[in-house]
Amino acid sequence: MKHLTIAELLRRPASGEEVVVKGWVRTKRGNKNVTFIALNDGSCLANIQIVADPSAFDEELLKRVTTGACLRVDGRLVASPGSGQGVEVQASKIEVYGTADPESYPLQKKGHSLEFLRDIAYLRPRTNTFGAILRIRHAMAYAIHTYFHERGFYYLHTPLITGSDAEGAGAMFRVTTLDMNNVPRTDEGKVDYSQDFFGKSCNLTVSGQLEGELGALSLGRIYTFGPTFRAENSNTPRHLAEFWMIEPEAAFYELEDDMELAEDFLKYLINYALEHCAEDLEFMNKMWDNELLERLHFVVEHDFKRLDYTEAIDILKASGRKFEFPCDWGCDLQSEHERYLVEEHFKRPVILINYPKEIKAFYMKQNDDGRTVRAMDVLFPKIGEIIGGSERETDYGKLSARVEELGINKADIWWYLDTRRWGSAPHSGFGLGFERLLLFVTGMTNIRDVIPFPRTPKNAEF
Ligand code: 4AD
Ligand code: MG
Repeated sequence: MKHLTIAELLRRPASGEEVVVKGWVRTKRGNKNVTFIALNDGSCLANIQIVADPSAFDEELLKRVTTGACLRVDGRLVASPGSGQGVEVQASKIEVYGTADPESYPLQKKGHSLEFLRDIAYLRPRTNTFGAILRIRHAMAYAIHTYFHERGFYYLHTPLITGSDAEGAGAMFRVTTLDMNNVPRTDEGKVDYSQDFFGKSCNLTVSGQLEGELGALSLGRIYTFGPTFRAENSNTPRHLAEFWMIEPEAAFYELEDDMELAEDFLKYLINYALEHCAEDLEFMNKMWDNELLERLHFVVEHDFKRLDYTEAIDILKASGRKFEFPCDWGCDLQSEHERYLVEEHFKRPVILINYPKEIKAFYMKQNDDGRTVRAMDVLFPKIGEIIGGSERETDYGKLSARVEELGINKADIWWYLDTRRWGSAPHSGFGLGFERLLLFVTGMTNIRDVIPFPRTPKNAEF
């Protein structure tokens, strides 16, 4: 007989048909006349209720049915007299695939703290909360591919191992096969990377953008969607050492087009979640953040406020607010500044543009004022920066001069500079942090809780 998922079974009528259901026990209760087992298989938030007559089963078998155990149940799909579910399974046969000793299985009760669950991240997908988050995560990944596919953007696979530093942030993980206990040295005593696997010093990428630009300047519109790695030692609720980034890059897009794309994209994704993840989102709203659904609706229904960095600084200075970090012209905005603008001043998402060139990456298009670049950050309530992007510098001379000014090694990115020599074209793009998006969509407040296996300083256990 075909095994159906619980999500599939719960959508079927109470036909009395024979079914097979497999999953993990959430709870078992009852009395000597009847046993109720709530079974969950991860296919949806809801459990299916299994009803068993204890006299029809071996007592020893039923004893092994405890919270966390994995079962196969054969039975009939019938109408459920209990509230909360349309159908239930009247069990005729139960097989225990795997027991879960109540003395040691950590997920006995409901309502564990997120901190506790972080310590057992390898088991937390079995909880309602993480089941919901991971299903929403899947839905968002699917929606991202759909969005770009339908708009003529091609999915480009950019390398994870690179010899360049896309963001110039300098916080990268080295990739090497050199023997750490016996590192080869050059005559000057430096590490001899010519003997390393790639014959040069290599790292895990911080962004697929530079290669993405090569794609845009040939395929027109591309996007990347892959893991990126940053060794910045920032132990904040918004930073991971390994996170996923979506980076569209489009030829002939100027900054305005880039802003349009970013706003439309984010609204599409949030709408998609509201439409396709309703059950999980309602659960998150009820359990963790009572304003979640309201916030999601608000964002899709309102225009994002667009303004210049310089105007933002004026607003922050005039706010009379005591911020922990300074906010003079030229300073990088901290999340406290971003959230003030979004949550208190404009009360809606903000797209900030034209940042000082000193605080932005080398590849951004320089404005005529000589001091700002055509950068664009999208700032969201509760999150701060969710997207960072820009129009790109297309002029070989200007780009080359900026690279030199910043002391970037041209030998690492000569191929990137070459794109500005042959058929250079206006183009723009941005990067959306996938986990920042998920923070917003799920209402979670710690980024470690929206990725199955978080990588943060001193944490790579599972
Ligand atoms: O602003 P960032 O550094 O921009 C880039 O990497 C560009 N190359 C993107 C582009 O124009 N193609 O990063 C983009 C986004 C941020 O806005 C943030 O959402 C997320 O990536 N992000 C992180 N998310 C989690 N953990 C971290 N350590 C992150 N660093 C950036
Ligand atoms: Mg940024």
